[in-house]
Amino acid sequence: MSFTIIKHPLIIDKLTRMRKVETSSKDFRENLNEIGQLMVYEIFRDMPLKEVDIETPVTKTKGYTIDVPVVLIPIIRAGLGMTEGIQKLVPTARIAHIGLYRNEETLEPVEYYAKKTKNIENSYVIVVDPMLATGGSASKAIEIAKGWGAKQIKFVCLVSVKEGIEKLQKDHPDVEIYTASLDPILNEDGYIVPGLGDAGDRIFGTK
Ligand code: PRP
Ligand code: URA
Repeated sequence: MSFTIIKHPLIIDKLTRMRKVETSSKDFRENLNEIGQLMVYEIFRDMPLKEVDIETPVTKTKGYTIDVPVVLIPIIRAGLGMTEGIQKLVPTARIAHIGLYRNEETLEPVEYYAKKTKNIENSYVIVVDPMLATGGSASKAIEIAKGWGAKQIKFVCLVSVKEGIEKLQKDHPDVEIYTASLDPILNEDGYIVPGLGDAGDRIFGTK
C-alpha cells in the first residue's frame, strides 16, 4: 500500500496558516479548500484517460478526457470542508456522505449517517477527512465504502500521524493514502500534535 506526503511550498504555507490558533474559521476554511485543490493534482495523477476525436478551430485532432466516474466521500463533518476544494476541479464527481464522530472516551468512531451514490462500484473513490489520528474514523469509512461495492479507493487527509497510517495500512492495505503532513505525536486525548486542533470545530466555528 502506498503512502504519499504531498509536499509543496504553497501547501506548507497554507497549512501553517491553518495551524495557528488565531486563524479565523473563514481563513481556516479558505486555506483548507485551497489545499484540497492543490492536492488534487497528485491524487488524480494516475486517472485513466480515453482518446476522443475533437475539432479545434484549425483542424480535426485527437484529445483525451477522463475515462472513469469519480465519487468523493467526505467524512462528516470535517471532510466536507476539504471536499469542496477537490470538487471544484472535478465538478462531475458524485458525492456520497458518511457521518462519524469519535466517542470522547474510547476514541472509537460512531456512525450516524451514510448515503451512497449510484455506480460507486465502477468509480474512482476518494474518501476525504482532514485528520488521520487513531485511524478509527478513516478505517470505518473505508469499510462502509467497501460495503457499498467501492473497489478503487484512495484516502486523502491534511494532517496524519504514524498510528493512523499504520491502522489504515493494516485494515485496508489496498487503499492509497495521501497526506500533506506527517506530524510527530498522537497525544493521550487522541489529538495530533502539533496538529491544528479539532478540525470540525475550526471549520464550523462550533467552539
Ligand atoms: C475528527 C476528524 C476525523 C476524526 C479523526 O472528527 O475529522 O473524522 O476526528 O480521528 P481518528 O483518526 O482518531 O478517528 P470528529 O470525531 O471530531 O467529528 P467532527 O468532524 O464532526 O468534528
Ligand atoms: N480529530 C481532530 O479534529 N483533530 C485531531 O487532532 C485529532 C482528531
